[in-house]
Amino acid sequence: MRIVMIGSGYVGLVSGACFADFGHDVVCVDKDAAKIMKLKAGGIPIYEPGLEDLVSKNVAAGRLSFTTELAAPVAAADVVFIGVGTPSRRGDGHADLSYVYAAAREIAGALHGFTVIVTKSTVPVGTGDEVERIIREVNPVAEFAVASNPEFLREGAAIEDFKRPDRIVIGIEDERARGPMEEVYRPLYLNKAPVLFTRRRTSELIKYAANAFLAMKITFINEIADLCEKVGADVQDISRGIGLDNRIGSKFLHAGPGYGGSCFPKDTLALMKTAQDHESPVRLIEATVAINDRRKRAMARKVLNALDGDVRGKTIGVLGLTFKPNTDDMRDAPSLSIIQALQDAGATVRAYDPEGMEAAATMLTGVEYGRSAYDVAEGASAVVLVTEWDAFRALDFKRLKEVMAEPVLVDLRNVYPPKQMEALGIRYSSVGRPSDSELARDAEETLAAA
Ligand code: UDX
Repeated sequence: MRIVMIGSGYVGLVSGACFADFGHDVVCVDKDAAKIMKLKAGGIPIYEPGLEDLVSKNVAAGRLSFTTELAAPVAAADVVFIGVGTPSRRGDGHADLSYVYAAAREIAGALHGFTVIVTKSTVPVGTGDEVERIIREVNPVAEFAVASNPEFLREGAAIEDFKRPDRIVIGIEDERARGPMEEVYRPLYLNKAPVLFTRRRTSELIKYAANAFLAMKITFINEIADLCEKVGADVQDISRGIGLDNRIGSKFLHAGPGYGGSCFPKDTLALMKTAQDHESPVRLIEATVAINDRRKRAMARKVLNALDGDVRGKTIGVLGLTFKPNTDDMRDAPSLSIIQALQDAGATVRAYDPEGMEAAATMLTGVEYGRSAYDVAEGASAVVLVTEWDAFRALDFKRLKEVMAEPVLVDLRNVYPPKQMEALGIRYSSVGRPSDSELARDAEETLAAA
């Protein structure tokens, strides 16, 4: 198959490289000339494990190329994917579709022979109808069908997710799109990935419903974690205890500082807006969005509590800045709100992240950056583990204690066992796993208030 991928961002680049690896002939297009130049020179604009090797292997095999000009490759293509960004629109939270529609216009002018145009970007319900209308308007004689094929890959595990998906969802309105789409994904049929063909609007909504459900699942366990802290229960055992029920499932039940990233915050908001516009509000998601927003900043309170309510003039070491490990993505990362709240409370923040410091420096002010966990712990009154990079999973606590002003660890990802930390003489707090001393302090406060 001859495939064109418009947009060489996260989804576009990973999908393009994986399609090429399946044996298809893929041209990735992007308007950003600097990005295309970098890709042509063998550079990768994002950090994603395995992507550099996959790209260079397929470029060398002559199956993958990059360009800023879409006309010639689109004219020769069997299938054209639109994988451009759909960020939140400033002001109203709706998905900004201007890049998708601009791509549709350009594609329309270049079509030659029957072509399937596929939205891979996350797009609100009805976008496929509008893409079809635009193409017809620009090029009334074009032979084409518009399909929807949302992408469910996770950053940091993108290639594995693309090649071994739980399912492939394809929305079509015109039967002529079925054959080419089956051909595009044939290698995955061999992997026995379930393929769900459905109507286009349904496919568009599946993506939002999936992301919103996962965001809600995380938010649910986060609220249960808060309750655990009040009643002396352990949220990790609760996750296990409920997750073993097949109807619930064990994944996405890890309590933490709230979800971030390029998808959940933007997609929950966009779904909420679409639903409100259609006077069919999804109240569970409205609550999820509000709870998660508040939660990120509230995590700073845990640090204050660990330091008897006062961080003024103190140095706090932050381990991990990206919204999750194995990415350099800082979008909507909980670290941003936590650090700002700590600074507002008068603390000096020193931070270290294996990949995220460059992006963080453009989004935060007044933060000092270190070269390692031990470097940022130097003289710190507390260390906060915000992102669970492998580099923070086996810290040398003897060394940490030696360099820190006070041996306080606030573990927002529940990486360490509380008992082990207590045994090491660390004043430890985590999420939804109260230590006996925290419970005793809570009880004292309740008594004092009464
Ligand atoms: C997500 C979806 O998983 C993916 O299917 C979709 O295509 C894009 O959005 P991604 O944003 O890359 O992928 O990351 P994911 O691993 O899903 O994590 C999202 C956020 O939720 C992170 O901030 C993570 O720390 C948080 N999370 C996840 C939890 O707090 N607890 C969990 O149990 C799982």
